[in-house]
Amino acid sequence: MTDAVERFDVLIIGSGAAGLTLALRLPEHVSVCMLAKGPIGEGSSLYAQGGVSAVLEASDSVDAHVADTLDAGAGLSDAETARFVAERGHAAIEWLVEAEVPFSRHRRDDGTEALHLHREGGHSHRRIVHAADATGHAITTTLEAQVRARPNVTLMEHHLAVDVITARRLGHEADRCLGAYVLDASGKRVRAIAARCVVLASGGASKVYLYTSNPDGASGDGIAMAWRAGCRVANMEFNQFHPTCLYHPRAKSFLISEAVRGEGARLLLPDGSRFMDRFDERAELAPRDIVARAIDHEMKRLGADCLYLDISHRDAAFVREHFPTISEKLRDYGIDMTREPIPVVPAAHYTCGGVVVDRNGRTDIPGLYAIGECTYTGLHGANRLASNSLLECLVYGTAAADDIATRLAADTQAAPVPPAWDESLVTDSDEQVVVSHNWDEIRRFMWDYVGIVRTNKRLERARHRIDLLAREIAEYYGNFRITADLVELRNLAVVADLIIRCAQSRHESRGLHYTLDHPTPDERRPPRPTVLVPEPPRPYRRLRGRL
Ligand code: FAD
Ligand code: SIN
Repeated sequence: MTDAVERFDVLIIGSGAAGLTLALRLPEHVSVCMLAKGPIGEGSSLYAQGGVSAVLEASDSVDAHVADTLDAGAGLSDAETARFVAERGHAAIEWLVEAEVPFSRHRRDDGTEALHLHREGGHSHRRIVHAADATGHAITTTLEAQVRARPNVTLMEHHLAVDVITARRLGHEADRCLGAYVLDASGKRVRAIAARCVVLASGGASKVYLYTSNPDGASGDGIAMAWRAGCRVANMEFNQFHPTCLYHPRAKSFLISEAVRGEGARLLLPDGSRFMDRFDERAELAPRDIVARAIDHEMKRLGADCLYLDISHRDAAFVREHFPTISEKLRDYGIDMTREPIPVVPAAHYTCGGVVVDRNGRTDIPGLYAIGECTYTGLHGANRLASNSLLECLVYGTAAADDIATRLAADTQAAPVPPAWDESLVTDSDEQVVVSHNWDEIRRFMWDYVGIVRTNKRLERARHRIDLLAREIAEYYGNFRITADLVELRNLAVVADLIIRCAQSRHESRGLHYTLDHPTPDERRPPRPTVLVPEPPRPYRRLRGRL
C-alpha cells in the first residue's frame, strides 16, 4: 500500500543521544519529524554506563584530553577535530546539567559540591562525568522527556527508514536530499517523508558481529543508506571490541563498564593470576584495543571460554554505590561482584568509522547530515578513547543544529517532490528463512574472519562469502515486499562489505585493525584514513520504483 507524501523541515533518523540533542538544539519554529525503529530513546545511548568525557577540573586541560584522544587513535585521529570536540566538552556538560540530567556528585575536601568524575582506560585524568553506572539512561530519559514536550517535534516510534531519497536518483543534475522512505509500525506501509534536511543519527553497526554489547538495531542502517545514496564512508576497519562483556549463558549483551577497571578492578586468568602488565605498562587501564587483544590472546592460548574481572578487594559498599546497575544485574545472574570475580569476554562495541562528515555534520549530499556513531568525523582514528562517543554526539548534534537552522533560513528553492513508494512489481516472500539464515551467516563469519585478529586469508574468505550473500540479498530485495528484518539484513550486508574492503586495503596493524600478516604499523608513510568512494547512485526509475 502506498501513501501521500508528508512534509517536514527536518527529518531526524534516530533518537539516541545524537538525535535527541539535535532535536532540542533546533529552533522551535522548525518542524521536525523524529524516527526510531523501536521505542523513542532505545539504542546504544540508553545503555551507556561509563559516562561522558569532559575537562572540568583545573588540574586537567583540553591539551591533555586531546593528547589522550590522539594517543588512543594510534596516529589516525585528526588533531583539529579532537580539539574541536574537547574544547566543547565543558559547554556540553553544562547544557546537560541545565537540562537536569541527574549526574553523580560529591563533596570536595574544601566542602564545595562538584560533579563526581570517574577514570577510564587511556585517560590521563579523572574526567568522566557519570550518573552512577547508568549514565546513558539518565541522559536519554531526561532529553527524551523534553523532546516529547516540544510541539514542533512529531515522533514516529517503530518506524524504520529504508532509504534516503535524493534528487540525483530522480534524474536531476544537481543533487540534494529530499526525504526518506519509511516502513511504518505495522510493517505493511511504506511512507514517503519529504524534508528539507535529513539527519542520519542512526547509531553504529556492531550487530554485524555475532557477539556485541549493542542492543538490537545497531545494524548500520545510516551508514548503508548514505553509501547507497552516494556518500563517502571511511575507516570501517576500526570496529572497537569492548574487553569486558559479561560471559553468562543467559546474558545476551551486558557490558561491565570500563569504569570498574578505573576503580581498580583486575583482569585475571582462570588460575587467578594477573596478566595485563605483560601486554602494556598501563595494565588494566591501557586503551581498549590493547586490553581486548590481550584477553583474546590469553583465551586462545589457554583454550578458555572467558577470563575474569575482579574488584572484590575493594570495599563492598563502595562497589555497590558506584556500580548499582552492574552489581544488581550480576546478582540476578547469581554473581556477587563484591565477593567474587566476574566472567568476561570481549564483544563488538563501537563503530569508529562511518559516513564522512565535516564539522557541521554535513555529508557529501547537500541537505543530508549525519551525527553520532554512524559518522566518521576524524575524532576516533584507529581506536576510540572511552567516553568520547557521547561527547561527540552532543558536540556534533549541536553543531549540525546550528548549520541546519542557517541552511533552512537561506533555502528558498522549491525541492522536487519525492514519488510514492512503488510495490506494484513485488510479492510477499514465501521463504523468510533466507533472511534469518543470512543474518546468522554474516554475523558469524564477521566474528570468525574479520574480528579482533585478522589475516589476509580470513579476510579473503569473508570477501568471498559477502560477495555471494550480497547478490542473493539484492535479488531477494528486488522481488519481495520488504520487512524490517530484510531492510536490516540488506544494511548489514553493505556494512560487512565496507568493513572487509577497508580491512583488505590496510596492509598494517594499527589500533583496532590487527592482522597477523602485517603485525606492526607501517612506518614508511604517514598514516591515512581509509576513505571509500561509492559508485554513482543508480537512478530510481531503472529500479522500477525501488531504490
Ligand atoms: P544510538 O543511541 O545507538 O541511537 C540510534 C537511534 O537510531 C535509535 O533510536 C534507533 O532506533 C535509530 N535507528 C537506527 N536505524 C534506524 C532506521 N533505519 N530507521 C529509524 N531509526 C533508526 N559511549 C560513551 O561515550 N560513554 C559510555 O559510557 C558508553 N557506554 C556504552 C555502553 C554500551 C553498552 C554501549 C552499547 C555503548 C556505549 N557507548 C558509550 C557508546 C555510545 O553509547 C554510543 O556510541 C552512542 O550512544 C551512540 O549514540 P547515537 O545517538 O549515535 O546512536
Ligand atoms: C564503558 O562504560 O566501559 C563504556 C564506555 C564507552 O564505551 O565509552
